[in-house]
Amino acid sequence: MIPRGLRDGTAIVTGGATLIGQVVVRAFHEAGASAVVADIDAAGGDSLARELGARVFFSATDIRDDGQIERCVADTVERFGGVDVLVNLACSYVDEGAASGRQDWLELLDVNVVGTAMMTKAVRPHMAAKRRGAIVNLTSISAKVAQAGRWLYPVSKAALVQLTRNMAMDLASDGTPRQLGLTGVDVVQGDGRDLGRRPRQDRPRRRTLPSPRPRRRPRGSGSRRPLPLQ
Ligand SMILES: NC(=O)c1ccc[n+]([C@@H]2O[C@H](COP(=O)([O-])OP(=O)(O)OC[C@H]3O[C@@H](n4cnc5c(N)ncnc54)[C@H](O)[C@@H]3O)[C@@H](O)[C@H]2O)c1
Repeated sequence: MIPRGLRDGTAIVTGGATLIGQVVVRAFHEAGASAVVADIDAAGGDSLARELGARVFFSATDIRDDGQIERCVADTVERFGGVDVLVNLACSYVDEGAASGRQDWLELLDVNVVGTAMMTKAVRPHMAAKRRGAIVNLTSISAKVAQAGRWLYPVSKAALVQLTRNMAMDLASDGTPRQLGLTGVDVVQGDGRDLGRRPRQDRPRRRTLPSPRPRRRPRGSGSRRPLPLQ
């Protein structure tokens, strides 16, 4: 659900042309907001924009390209008068685990991490000017669960969790109070506070340590198959 204060605004949704991105764009549209689909999927983005009408605009944007990012943000401001929400959702899943080469690493990090940082950098002055804005970074449970055969995607999502925390600290001073990292379990808000379940090392230390107990593996755990994670 789109928060009440954002329903009359404008959202840029990177990766808005497919699956989850389309759902997000439709939610903004249904709430009364304008939305820009920033994606490399021209067919998907165009057809979504045509279906939803004047308040939804497709911007052919590759978030690995700073020039295209700048043009997307400038077109959004020109058409809708500003940017109130940025949803950093575009991602790459290309991951050959240990077999991945340097180019694979750079490519995936460019989309999943650097693209998010550059989109944020581009919208920041527009949000700061209005002292209003929200940034939502889509991460994943893969950020914190060990998975065999996947090195790139989980690492990129873990990096995004930390990027969201630090981003929240810096952007809060712009007067844009909402920066959210959605991981399924962690929600980080604009003052850097972690509102969801926190990683163990971030939790406050106990004054007295509990007496050590021998750790036992739960019954049947040896045969448990890994869950499919995205
Ligand atoms: N699908 C899941 O089960 C799941 C689970 C947890 C988190 N997520 C997160 O949700 C988000 C969306 O996932 P999804 O499964 O819908 O992904 P998807 O692959 O269906 O969509 C990603 C979108 O990003 C776009 N994209 C890729 N590279 C781009 C680039 N360089 N510039 C601009 N756009 C680009 C693609 O064209 C596509 O439209 C991702 O951030 C993903 O990590 C998904």
